Amino acid sequence: VPNFIHSENAMIVTGKIGEVRKEVGKARAAGRTVGFVPTMGALHEGHLSLMRRCREDGCWSAASIYVNPAQFGPREDLDKYPRPFEKDRSLCEKEGVDLLFAPASADMYPEGHSTWVTVEGITEGLCGAFRPGHFRGVATVVAKLLLIVLPDAAYFGRKDYQQLKVIERMAADLNLPVRIVGCPTVRDGDGIALSSRNAYLSPKERERARVIPGLWREISSRWGRGVRTAGDLLAGLAGELAKHADTVEYFAAYHPETLREAGKDEALAFNPVVALAVRIGATRLIDNFQPGVDGL
Ligand code: PAF
Repeated sequence: VPNFIHSENAMIVTGKIGEVRKEVGKARAAGRTVGFVPTMGALHEGHLSLMRRCREDGCWSAASIYVNPAQFGPREDLDKYPRPFEKDRSLCEKEGVDLLFAPASADMYPEGHSTWVTVEGITEGLCGAFRPGHFRGVATVVAKLLLIVLPDAAYFGRKDYQQLKVIERMAADLNLPVRIVGCPTVRDGDGIALSSRNAYLSPKERERARVIPGLWREISSRWGRGVRTAGDLLAGLAGELAKHADTVEYFAAYHPETLREAGKDEALAFNPVVALAVRIGATRLIDNFQPGVDGL
C-alpha cells in the first residue's frame, strides 16, 4: 500500500548537484528560507527531530543521505553501515522534507578530487584521538554539502558534540553564510541516546549500555547539589563505566567551546560537557551530557 503523503508538493529526490542548485534557487526566488539536514541515513527520531525543527523554523527543507567514505577509517564499519534507503526516503517524505539529496560517491568525490578541509585544535582530542582522519572527512563533506545546497541554516544533533563544534568552527573559518543549529540529543525510553549504530547492540549489550544514562543522572544530581569540580563531578564514575564497557576510549569533562579537558580541581566557571566513547561488544558508542543545560 503506498504511503499517502499530506503535502502540497511531492518530495524531490535527486542525486544530481545541478538539480539541487536549481530547486534551491526556485525556493529562494519564492522568498523561502532554506534549511538543511545532512545525514548518513539509517534515520531515527534524532534525525527526524532535526527535520521537524527545520520545518518549525519555517524553512523550505532539504535533507541529504550520503554515507561518506572519507570519514570512516580503514578498520571501521563503512561496509556494514546500515543503508535502508527506501525506509529513509519515506520517513523524509512523512516529515515534509521538500528535497532529498542522495548523491553517489562518483559525484561527491570524482576522480582527481584532492581538496580536504582540516580543522585544527578541537579535532585533536576526544574522538579525534581515536579516529585519525575522521573529522577531516566530516569537515570536507559538510563543507561540500553546504556549498552545494547553500542553506540559510543547517541542523546537527548535539549527540555528536565534537562534530557540531568542528562544523561550527569550519563554517566560521571559511566564512560560509550559514547558521549552524545544534539540536538536543533524543533518547530512548531507557535513556540511551538514539544512534544509527545502536542497531548493532545485542539485547545483553544494550542492557550494559544503560550505564551511560545512569552516569548522566548522577552527574546531573551532583551538579544540582552544587558540585563544581570535574574531580568531584566524575568521582567513582569512570570505574562504573569500565565495569560495563569493554573499552573506555575517553570519559572526561570538557570546556563546551574549546573542548579543553577541565582540570580535576579546577573550579568550573562554565557548564562542562561530559563526554565519552566506549566500546560494547563490536559497537562503538559516544554520548555526552552538559549538566545545567541538557535535560534527561
Ligand atoms: O552526523 C552525521 O551523520 C555525519 O557525520 C554527517 C554530518 C552527515 C557528515 O557525513
